[in-house]
Amino acid sequence: LKHFLTIEGLSRELLVEILDKAEGFVGVARQAVKKVPLCRGKVIANLFFETSTRTRTTFELAAKRLSADVLNLNISTSATAKGETLLDTLRNLEAMHVDMFVVRHASSGTAHFMARHANPHVSIVNAGDGRHSHPTQAMLDMFTIRRHKGDFSSLSVAIVGDIMHSRVARSQMLALKTLGVPDVRIIAPRTLMPARIEEAFGVRVYHDLTEGIRDADVVIMLRIQRERMNSALLPSEHEYFHLYGLTEARLTAARPDVTVMHPGPINRGIEMDSQVADGERSVILEQVSNGIAVRMAVMSMCIGTQNLRAQSIGESHA
Ligand code: CP
Repeated sequence: LKHFLTIEGLSRELLVEILDKAEGFVGVARQAVKKVPLCRGKVIANLFFETSTRTRTTFELAAKRLSADVLNLNISTSATAKGETLLDTLRNLEAMHVDMFVVRHASSGTAHFMARHANPHVSIVNAGDGRHSHPTQAMLDMFTIRRHKGDFSSLSVAIVGDIMHSRVARSQMLALKTLGVPDVRIIAPRTLMPARIEEAFGVRVYHDLTEGIRDADVVIMLRIQRERMNSALLPSEHEYFHLYGLTEARLTAARPDVTVMHPGPINRGIEMDSQVADGERSVILEQVSNGIAVRMAVMSMCIGTQNLRAQSIGESHA
């Protein structure tokens, strides 16, 4: 793996390899065993042009668990604030011998742009670009689903909310279909549902929440992406919660052992009730923890020493 930019075009075998590798890193990620030297001597720069709590910090922790040196560029105090271009920022950090850039940007395609222009030895990992893609989020979600459900081949997975503006939903749909989930359902108001999504992703479309989550094994709630909407699309919070907010009562339509997920940050009382977010079927904080192991897998597959399997390395340093 050179870069990790999108789920699109990746094979089922590669996605499973990432999940398996992440499984081997769980002990290291949770500090049950010591960190591994797979990225010792490598420099990883976090470039977050958009805000982040979970993704930036779990990338940093993952890099540290792999023994890499980590640079966290503070964009608001960097020369970007003086008008330096992205390409000049890239060139200057490359001059400091950075091996990998983890990039989040409001413009779709930024990570691809950097991958096209980066020096050949440099890897780019997409940490979210505009509405386009958030591939490591999708992989940590797949990892969480596999840990709870075991197998993808007979699952019904419902994704609920602002599909229109969600890079997470796009990456999740691609990953679920690639991993063989037969029934992927998309539930959203008409104003937040992209056109022709059934054909593009092989999913089923619903506009009614209860109907859409009926007998679902997994329900993934999405954040309303206010920062990417024009005001005409903005639903009122009260109306949105009334029609699409997940409550304990609504969740009874899904399977009794349903797993409830959300990539975060949650808007409580808009996308879901606190009772559900903090309830026994919620794995939202587990998703966050799993992000460390999955990001370790992706980073080590891009720039790590690849001569030993992650699991045996994790065990040998216990
Ligand atoms: N899920 C996610 O991307 O969260 P952050 O914006 O906090 O990184």
